[in-house]
Amino acid sequence: MILEGQPTRSIMRTADGTGARILDQRKLPWEIVWVELFSSDEAAVAIREMWTRGAPMIGATAAYGFAMALDVDPSDSALNAAYDQLLETRPTAINLRWALDEVRKAVEPLAPEARAEAAWLRADAICDEDAELCRAIGEHGLALFRELHAKHPDRPLNILTHCNAGWLATVDYGTATAPIYLAHDAGIPIHVWVDETRPRNQGALLTAFELRNHGVPHTVITDNAGGLLMMKGQVDAVVVGTDRVTANGDVCNKIGTYLKALAAADNGVPFYVALPYTTFDPNTATGADIPIEERSAEEVTLLTGPGPNGIETIRVTDSPAANPAFDVTPARLVTGYITERGVLDRI
Ligand code: MRU
Repeated sequence: MILEGQPTRSIMRTADGTGARILDQRKLPWEIVWVELFSSDEAAVAIREMWTRGAPMIGATAAYGFAMALDVDPSDSALNAAYDQLLETRPTAINLRWALDEVRKAVEPLAPEARAEAAWLRADAICDEDAELCRAIGEHGLALFRELHAKHPDRPLNILTHCNAGWLATVDYGTATAPIYLAHDAGIPIHVWVDETRPRNQGALLTAFELRNHGVPHTVITDNAGGLLMMKGQVDAVVVGTDRVTANGDVCNKIGTYLKALAAADNGVPFYVALPYTTFDPNTATGADIPIEERSAEEVTLLTGPGPNGIETIRVTDSPAANPAFDVTPARLVTGYITERGVLDRI
């Protein structure tokens, strides 16, 4: 990932190795603030309150939080308590459970005094692997983008994406954005339609920030604009990330993804989902079985951003509001899954 012209990662250990350093995504793009987490309590707050977010990134943060807990108390009871505390921070993304299970498997058979170090090393490896998985997703997506661009070589390839499935949501590259960055770097002319992604505006705030940092041409659109653009032939493919893909191939992702998939199907626009194996949940049969996070109504009724007096919050409605944070796109609407193993018709 490129941040202010420098290559870096979205999460790393602190300089002394006893904590994790993350970007405070609540402040982006207005301020670039790195936050250091030194306890599982802090890691839990950072995930729940969305200082950090995105399925793989939640898993990475939780893995480090687990190691921090074991630094303090490596007993069986403390291990179980830390696992439960971190697991309950957010319900939908399966990467959270995957990462905690990986750390648990690595440390549980060990003597308590060996657990913390093993947990730190497993968390480091989870981060390294995530970056590699996303790079591989990017390579396979790049081959797909070359084919799509070859159909209309006279104009830029137009990709529409929803939410932020970029490097802020992973350790590096992103999932949906990895092919975009690789295509841009390979000289394929590419332009991205960025859904603003109400209510938290991950597209307008985070994806647009990433693309600006990488120099990728993009345009932010309202969440309602994509259907018209598809109808007018201005979208060559929709590419989104996901929080969980179930055994039958259903795709859970940020609220609004399903409507994009419906519009894509109606207009013959291919709809791709980018994911690493860590987001596949073979233990959940269909999307109907996924717990959908319901977040605070204030995310709908209030808007925060820079005003004349600094960062300000304004109210956009006085009525009651509901805020389901994810939806499910049925497998039948998915053209393909861009994975580290290739682009698959079926998962
Ligand atoms: O609520 P968020 O911002 O954590 O939701 C994130 C998404 O829905 C992403 O699209 C998904 O996690 C994929 S991240 C590679």
